[in-house]
Amino acid sequence: MSLQLRVPPTNQRVLPESVEHDFEPGLRDREHTPPPRDVADAGWGNGWETDFSESVRRLYAGYRGAVLPTLSALSLHVALSERWFQQREFDLRGARRILDVGCGAGQLTQHLLKHADREATIMGCDLTWEMLLRARRRVRHDAVQWVVGNLTHLPFDEASFDCVTCGFVLEHLPDVRRGLHELARVLTDGGRLLLLTTEDHWTGRWTARAWNCRALNRQELRRQCQEAGLVWKQDLWFSEVHRWFAVGGICVSLERASRCHSGNG
Ligand SMILES: C[S@@+](CC[C@H](N)C(=O)[O-])C[C@H]1O[C@@H](n2cnc3c(N)ncnc32)[C@H](O)[C@@H]1O
Repeated sequence: MSLQLRVPPTNQRVLPESVEHDFEPGLRDREHTPPPRDVADAGWGNGWETDFSESVRRLYAGYRGAVLPTLSALSLHVALSERWFQQREFDLRGARRILDVGCGAGQLTQHLLKHADREATIMGCDLTWEMLLRARRRVRHDAVQWVVGNLTHLPFDEASFDCVTCGFVLEHLPDVRRGLHELARVLTDGGRLLLLTTEDHWTGRWTARAWNCRALNRQELRRQCQEAGLVWKQDLWFSEVHRWFAVGGICVSLERASRCHSGNG
């Protein structure tokens, strides 16, 4: 896997190598702790964060973000989602520039690293720098670059990636369409998107309450994706049991429509 990042950076805020410490185990009492100096210099708190994103960041910086990888493992979300990459329901073959937006603790990033082509460059991006530190510690691979960024204003040029994953982030945005527009913007024409989000189903509503986010309606999301120039290709399920009970969230593979024909982006 190449260490050379070829994605053109636009005002990127790369997590500096020098930052290793996320103040655990004291995070519970220090949710308002400002970032280390070099992360701050990399763009934190320069006016790009709005109130909503600051409250989301605080949520994930704290103990809930710290236990997230364990919860993801217990719910089998990490193990079951690997099948999509293994069985090429979400096909990474040929993708050279891959982005994981809202990478959290690297739950999906680790699959990208394992199943992407050797030549691919992978970038993990998250609003919460504490999550990036956790991801970097868990994934432990130099091939992944970690960047602080907000889905509402991704710090990448148009058409920078031929593959994007975005797991359980959209429900945190005040305006879903804004996030979809950004995902479509950074994708190349024909680029692939794996989108996972909380559904307005009974389990989803419960999850949304617990994580202080929203639960989205599948039909509404489908319509919004279409408007953003994202073509809904295939509904995915963590397992047959999830499919039977329609639980686990909205998991879908999409494709970026051509800019020439769609008039989007
Ligand atoms: C539930 S975790 C999902 C982690 C991983 N993607 C997964 O599929 O398990 C949500 C992550 O999205 C991040 N996040 C929330 N809002 C975001 C935004 N507007 N831009 C970027 N990341 C965001 C949070 O900091 C958190 O790390």
